[in-house]
Amino acid sequence: MQNIIATHKYLLPLIVGLLIGSCNTTEPVVRHESIHGKSVETIVEMMTLSEKVGQMTQAGRNYLVKEKDIKDYYLGSLLSGGGSAPRNNEPSSWADMLDGYQAVAAETRLGIPLMYGIDAIHGHNNVVGATIFPHNIGLGATGNAVLVEEIARITAKEVRATGINWTFDPCVANSRDERWGRAYESYGEDPALISALGRAQVEGYQGASLSSPEAIAACTKHYIGDGAPTWGTGSGGNIDRGDAQISEAELRYLHLPPYLAAIQAETATIMASYNSWNGLKLHGHKYLMTDLLKGELGYEGFIISDWAAIDELPGNYKSDIIESINAGVDMVMVPGNTSGSGSSYRDFIKKLKQAVNEGSIEMSRIDDAVTRILNVKKRMGLLDALYSNDRSLIASVGSSEHRAVARQAVRESVVMLKNEGVLPLSKDLATIVVAGRGADNVGMQCGGWSIAWQGGMGNITPGTTVLDGIQAAVSPSTQVIHSPDGLAAANGDAVIVVVGEAPYAEGHGDRDDLSLSNEDISVLNRVQASGKPMVVILLSGRPMIISDIVEASDAFLAAWLPGTEGNGITDVIFGDYNPSGKLSVTWPTGMSQIPINLGDSNYSPLFPVGFGLSF
Ligand code: GLC
Repeated sequence: MQNIIATHKYLLPLIVGLLIGSCNTTEPVVRHESIHGKSVETIVEMMTLSEKVGQMTQAGRNYLVKEKDIKDYYLGSLLSGGGSAPRNNEPSSWADMLDGYQAVAAETRLGIPLMYGIDAIHGHNNVVGATIFPHNIGLGATGNAVLVEEIARITAKEVRATGINWTFDPCVANSRDERWGRAYESYGEDPALISALGRAQVEGYQGASLSSPEAIAACTKHYIGDGAPTWGTGSGGNIDRGDAQISEAELRYLHLPPYLAAIQAETATIMASYNSWNGLKLHGHKYLMTDLLKGELGYEGFIISDWAAIDELPGNYKSDIIESINAGVDMVMVPGNTSGSGSSYRDFIKKLKQAVNEGSIEMSRIDDAVTRILNVKKRMGLLDALYSNDRSLIASVGSSEHRAVARQAVRESVVMLKNEGVLPLSKDLATIVVAGRGADNVGMQCGGWSIAWQGGMGNITPGTTVLDGIQAAVSPSTQVIHSPDGLAAANGDAVIVVVGEAPYAEGHGDRDDLSLSNEDISVLNRVQASGKPMVVILLSGRPMIISDIVEASDAFLAAWLPGTEGNGITDVIFGDYNPSGKLSVTWPTGMSQIPINLGDSNYSPLFPVGFGLSF
């Protein structure tokens, strides 16, 4: 406007007159009560383009230029990316933060409350003090859909306690290559198991009714083929966000069934995937998102993009918007100014409106997206009552009842790969030595997506370490020696060595060598040299290269990434629980076998899918 006035001064009086005129027109002052009880169709008819485009925009909370933008840009959603917590990271501060955001949203003409999304993927894992459950690869080893539904129900309760109403979970990836940094977010290789557990998670999160004060919207992800890419095609040159170079038959057989199951469970939302399929990015794939998911499968919820994922489409940011929305993305996760693309929610909204006004995106597509979004909000009860936040749920966050369920999940997730008659250990042994960097390390037990996006080693949140579990289990007469480097091994009647992976998330975990670290190997060698019975516990997000270590150990437990309740592992060690975990993924003998999956010809792994010993 400024430039126009400067260069067309004769237009100035006309423009000023128009401006004054427009300021005098009074938009119908419609208060949010007026939408209560109205159909979504009626509400959409009431909405301006700005209000519609705002509902399609999800901004990262820490990228808000100012909180008032929630109102001024009619934002429909905010998110906390991994680790994006209030300064004081405890439940009531989260609830205060959410109440604040919703209060601003309530000031808009229609007062449509926000959907607030977060990655609560193994409990409310961003919140200090919350119960953190095993990651999906461990849940896959339990094979227990009833337990998984209970875990999701508990997680939903702890999430709602903080005022949040949407989780970006379950991840129903079928991880085909253990080198992928998100292998632990996959329940396993079998589409039937993934479908059963993913469905259970959706049902646990959403409950009988999404409008329940203890329910949250689920987000089944990442559609489609996130676990299928070929090594070397990833965004970092490795595998994450890479190209799934597979036939449509394989895509439909291995990767589609969990979405069928999630749709049957009425998953409120589905997240599009960063990966490509045979060279085409999913975020621009009209056949897969619109024709297949919404058409053939009849999906009626809405598709949200991944974090700035539309920026990865070829072309400029405006063409990214046009391509992704026309392909079927309904809400765009616009975290902020990403490197190079300059995308932010203000820029996104401006360009999306331009695209509609110039006819690059039909208004019918916008209305379809907004209708889908408001149908979900209607199911959540957000259109028929003022936002409210039941603070009484805060007492349940990290409660002993919730942790007991997490402990049971850990027990059932542990896979005993070897036991030469040494387990269960007696609780009356004179001396037990506990070695390894994972022995007293809640952060290593939790893995990525825990308090911080990448997780962290050490005492990141209240929990029970393996060492804590041992000390609590043994008789008072037993001496427990914590010897991280294993130097005290010779003093023990048995030595428990806890080794594995330091936390990571997404592409940061892509690795072309899954050997244990030198530090872990030196501790294992030292303990083996002591000649004492050696029990190895592996904390990892995936199978690692362990053939020699299994050979050298007397017992070997794969404990995956168990979360805060490490005593579930020691329940197995001391025989309080007879191990029942079964591998949901293939365990390779070495890197040369990877990728290796059930169904491959000449399938000769170290341990096959379904393997797991009991006492
Ligand atoms: C991330 C992940 C996705 C997550 C989203 C929001 O990049 O790909 O799983 O839900 O961004 O944090």
